[in-house]
Amino acid sequence: MPTVTLHKNGQVHRGEVLPKTNLVVRAGIRQFPYPALRYECGMGKCAKCACRVLAGAETLPAPNWKEKKQLGALLDEGYRLVCQLWIEQDIELLQDAEPPVRPA
Ligand code: FES
Repeated sequence: MPTVTLHKNGQVHRGEVLPKTNLVVRAGIRQFPYPALRYECGMGKCAKCACRVLAGAETLPAPNWKEKKQLGALLDEGYRLVCQLWIEQDIELLQDAEPPVRPA
């Protein structure tokens, strides 16, 4: 089972999830990474779930059009929209205290 490591506010949250898990869906039913993970819409529209992928990025599919629209150049810094990801392998994420602001 994939191990998810989430760094947030200087703390490390770690848990195992089933393959093809969406972390925002899990948080929505109050399972890890709830309550650490920040999110809102769950649909790729708000970017509140944005995280920087510290390890395991190569296991993820290419960003979809919602991630490209919301994150723009932040994709090059390793950010992804967690609500748009279905986790299949171990992954390590960092979520900033505030959602990242897309460069103009
Ligand atoms: S929760 Fe809104 S974009 Fe992911």
